[in-house]
Amino acid sequence: MTEKFAYIETFGCQMNERDSEIMGQLLSDDDFAPTEDIYQADVIIVNTCSIRAKAEQKAYSLLGRLKRMKQKNPSLVVAVAGCVAQQDGKKLLKRMPFVDLVIGPQNIYNLPGLIKNLPEKTGKNGNIKVWDRLSPAFEIPPFLPAVDKGSPFKRFVTIMQGCNNYCTYCVVPYTRGREISRKFEDIVHEIEHLANSGIREVTLLGQNVNSYGRDRSGKQHHTFPDLLQAVAGIDGIKRIRFTTSHPKDLSEELMRCFAELDKLCPHFHLPVQSGSNKILKKMNRKYTVESYLDKVRKLKEYRPDIALTTDIIVGFPGETDKDFGATMELLDTVRFHGAFSFKYSDRPHAKSSSLIEKVPEEEKSVRLNQLQARQEEITQERHREYIGSIMEVMVEGESKSAAGQWSGRTTTNHIVNFDSPAILIPGQTAAFSAMVNWCRPSMSGASKS
Ligand code: SAH
Ligand code: SF4
Ligand code: F3S
Repeated sequence: MTEKFAYIETFGCQMNERDSEIMGQLLSDDDFAPTEDIYQADVIIVNTCSIRAKAEQKAYSLLGRLKRMKQKNPSLVVAVAGCVAQQDGKKLLKRMPFVDLVIGPQNIYNLPGLIKNLPEKTGKNGNIKVWDRLSPAFEIPPFLPAVDKGSPFKRFVTIMQGCNNYCTYCVVPYTRGREISRKFEDIVHEIEHLANSGIREVTLLGQNVNSYGRDRSGKQHHTFPDLLQAVAGIDGIKRIRFTTSHPKDLSEELMRCFAELDKLCPHFHLPVQSGSNKILKKMNRKYTVESYLDKVRKLKEYRPDIALTTDIIVGFPGETDKDFGATMELLDTVRFHGAFSFKYSDRPHAKSSSLIEKVPEEEKSVRLNQLQARQEEITQERHREYIGSIMEVMVEGESKSAAGQWSGRTTTNHIVNFDSPAILIPGQTAAFSAMVNWCRPSMSGASKS
């Protein structure tokens, strides 16, 4: 039998990255070897993101290219997964009839079977289209496949799917469905298994990890801090991270974990979105600037060295100069270590799409540039505060940007390059001495899309 290959292109967040790993592993168990060369592939999966219009366009433009590849090679299987797949479903098939499979985030676990059941392609009429609705009865499978490729020492671990928050700008509740927590024992079991196979760092993933542990009726079985404590008890795991948290659900119990659990890294990504209470209300975020600041203050009491990062949207409908000014002020009040900032984008189903007081595109660009310029200054100032200190890094490997140096990540999530006379092994920890001109942190990145 000639070897078959699968190529996966991933857009979007860590949840999509983890889903791609799962699909890749399921396919590899089913005799489709992974390939980085799209032209070698027998199966191409496009794992899409729909968070902003630009993300969706990227997926469609790749699919446009795949159409030509498929014309030349009709036996190529093209599957579209992820949030655009869920969002557009049948519409996507109508627009792109050469696509063989459309699978939403809940269906990835069936991928090999779906591919197997595709009939021999006989041109236009041979294609099967699969499009399943999100199911309220969906459960995350008990044991998700570990991956052979990727980092030898760190992994993402899905702990929940979906979101119940309905921020008015956001498509996620419609593409990922209602919030579903994975079973506590399944998660712990998976991480024990990972630790036994050499994994040292795990990042627990969910759209809103703070509300982990509720069942469909809303009954709380475990809390997220319970889970953190259990993971911290697993031998071999040295570092624990998580993403993402909603400020409204950030409990004092979780904050206390930062003081009590040494393995929990002192980095917190806490999306604020806006510094104006009026806009936060229109976004349905369910907190105020004051309550957000209060939580930031408490977090710092529990863990003074905590590095805070955030997400900000500029140009939400109805955002005036004054509202934007309040967001700029918030940057100076909190002095985040990094911020991801975005121009507001209308999304299908999102309530804010029907708001009429749209901010013109040029104005959004002006605001975004202004915000990113100020945040960049703050990030650099934050940076300089570390000069003279010794930080623990987990070694990633040899630096790609600086020959002869090593690259590692601090507990605060800064990527740094450093010298070492000794040969280092990825996953081991080392000491890094922060001097003038140390490398820029990865988390100061900001997107213009
Ligand atoms: N679940 C996470 C965020 C997921 S999306 C949370 O609630 O924090 C990541 C970020 O994309 C959001 O925090 C928000 O800043 C941005 N975003 C989401 N929808 C958007 C839209 N319609 N336009 C612009 N940015 C958006
Ligand atoms: Fe979207 Fe809000 Fe849910 Fe985050 S919390 S995924 S922004 S609806
Ligand atoms: Fe994008 Fe879906 Fe993640 S919309 S950000 S891939 S949850």
